Amino acid sequence: MSEQSYIAGFRNHVVTEALPGALPEGQNSPQRCPYGLYAEQLSGTAFTAPREHNFRSWTYRIHPSVVQSTYSELDAGQLRSAPFSSIPADPNQMRWDPMPMPDAPADFVAGLFTLAGNGDVGGQSGVGVHLYACNTDMTERFFYNADGELLLVPQAGALSLRTELGLIEVSPGEIALLPRGVKFQVRLLAGTACGYLCENYGQPFELPGLGPIGANGLANPRDFLTPVAYYEDQSGAFELVAKFQGRLWVTDLDHSPLDVVAWHGNYAPYKYDLALFNTVNTVSFDHPDPSIFTVLTSPSGTPGTANCDFVIFPPRWMVAERTFRPPWFHRNIMSEYMGLIRGVYDAKAEGFAPGGGSLHNCMSPHGPDAATFEKASAAELAPEYQGNTLAFMFESRYVFHPTEAALEATFRQRDYVEVWQGLRSHFDPRQR
Ligand SMILES: [Fe+2]
Repeated sequence: MSEQSYIAGFRNHVVTEALPGALPEGQNSPQRCPYGLYAEQLSGTAFTAPREHNFRSWTYRIHPSVVQSTYSELDAGQLRSAPFSSIPADPNQMRWDPMPMPDAPADFVAGLFTLAGNGDVGGQSGVGVHLYACNTDMTERFFYNADGELLLVPQAGALSLRTELGLIEVSPGEIALLPRGVKFQVRLLAGTACGYLCENYGQPFELPGLGPIGANGLANPRDFLTPVAYYEDQSGAFELVAKFQGRLWVTDLDHSPLDVVAWHGNYAPYKYDLALFNTVNTVSFDHPDPSIFTVLTSPSGTPGTANCDFVIFPPRWMVAERTFRPPWFHRNIMSEYMGLIRGVYDAKAEGFAPGGGSLHNCMSPHGPDAATFEKASAAELAPEYQGNTLAFMFESRYVFHPTEAALEATFRQRDYVEVWQGLRSHFDPRQR
């Protein structure tokens, strides 16, 4: 993996070449490109999007992308897509154990399992929530997603993401983002891998505004890493799988699509180490809303109301005085899918395992289980380091529709609501 190298910064304009002089000087599309390369633009936003939200990269490649066969449809396996209107949304709180690893060989694409989703791929809103579990490298197969960008949250097993714009290695505790349309393949660095995937049909993820926090804090731009140009000049029989309008399609290539010798622009994959998140929290009493833990946000058309927020609950000190420290009981308008990368989550005594997940839809009540409530209500409130934890949420303004497979999965906990049934009344009108 010696080719692996990164440039720091969040969605900066990157200029990178794997061969010296491969980038044309002073223009994007000269009559003849250096080294006989083809110039091809990849735009991630409308040409006329405001400058701060305008994403595009110019690639200089051995073959233009159009050298491919006609697309034909491919079996999507357990991958599902918006619109999820055929499946009624469900107000029941739901929870799943970790999904078992597939018995048969499955690469990253074949190992996708859709749990839930919302919005509409055609209307470019909402997200798909998927799990991945794979035991086989993609070698002659590549993938791109025309329906949305992919936010990859590894839970076990490091991955090599070989993208047309460079090589990324990502391990549990890190995240990676693959922009809409970027071609890539996934190889396994640990034999098997599993994790979570947020397919964002809406506006690209961006860093949240910091408001009164100031110029620093939460995820800092310098900690996002974009790969440098990498190419291979390989002939052979390759497949390119595309997700387009909810279905999978495949086209044949006679060359590797990782043939971008140089590129420049601000539309590129990136990775981020969640351990670098500068966590902000109370130093007096109570705790702020979990929006204080937002790593990335995909805005919707309504200010402050996200298409999707990616929020983490990282290791942190708990110091709040005279406070019920775990998350409080709540009913939210936003809908939440929650996963656990490692350790334990402070609102649940048991049943929420790394690799598992829970779904709490719009206005469905949830909060700490009975055991956690009793313990936290009586706890001695000394400063405490909560180090063994890394949970996250995909939170959306749109209600999640679970898939049929998610509802019927052997790993769904059908008795989840029982965790709250031991919450007895403590009310005594004679004693305040
Ligand atoms: Fe919640």
